[in-house]
Amino acid sequence: MLKISELNVAYGDSKVIHDVSFTVESRESLAIMGRNGMGKTTLLKSLIGILPVNAGSITLNNIQLTDQPSYRRVQQGLSFVPQGRMIFPFLTVEENILSGAEYSGYRQVPEYIYKFFPVLKDMRKRNGGNLSGGQQQMLAIARALISDPKILILDEPTEGIQPSIIKEIAQTLNVLRHERSFSVIVSEQVLSFALDLSDRFLVIDRGHIVHEEARATLNQEKIKSFLTV
Ligand SMILES: Nc1ncnc2c1ncn2[C@@H]1O[C@H](COP(=O)(O)OP(=O)(O)O)[C@@H](O)[C@H]1O
Ligand SMILES: [Mg+2]
Repeated sequence: MLKISELNVAYGDSKVIHDVSFTVESRESLAIMGRNGMGKTTLLKSLIGILPVNAGSITLNNIQLTDQPSYRRVQQGLSFVPQGRMIFPFLTVEENILSGAEYSGYRQVPEYIYKFFPVLKDMRKRNGGNLSGGQQQMLAIARALISDPKILILDEPTEGIQPSIIKEIAQTLNVLRHERSFSVIVSEQVLSFALDLSDRFLVIDRGHIVHEEARATLNQEKIKSFLTV
């Protein structure tokens, strides 16, 4: 279980994340919904260790990660798909995927990744920069998967991607999550995608968690009211 307790994150004097607490069970999929500028990226970067926290704690199965560098968190089972994907445009698809394998030790892309993303196999010798936005998102997910995560963290994966591909990515992640047995934390503004993917929903507003709901009892209008300006 990933446990986040009273996390506070700031840029200098500017506090962005205020006393955020939540847990993620194994194989659970959690959505963090919120408008632009509400703190989604800041929160997720602090989980993976790109940003330091000012206070609070992050533990995975009781292992303290709060002050660990990113690579230690990856070794412990966290993996991050950043907003904007950040693939390497001048590396091939295959090289991009393998760039995520530093700690899992794969020398070749495992077949299951190509099974879930066949287009990446077809394009494995092409440069990442030649892929469409949706294909680059699949590539970024594949690069994160090759570290064998226990918790896959995705920051606004639907941004700039066409609806048919969004649907496909949600379906693929659902099957992958069960087959490979990992949890998902996804930040989103697109409710339909989160509904396809997540068991539980948090809403973040100016750095505070202001609402929480399980999918089983979800009031979509309520969540939407937080997402519209
Ligand atoms: N590097 C930074 N330095 C200072 N303030 C930042 C920085 N990055 C983001 N912020 C501010 O932090 C707040 C939350 O931003 P962010 O986490 O990117 O939100 P979201 O991902 O929900 O759009 C915003 O007010 C934003 O302007
Ligand atoms: Mg963001």
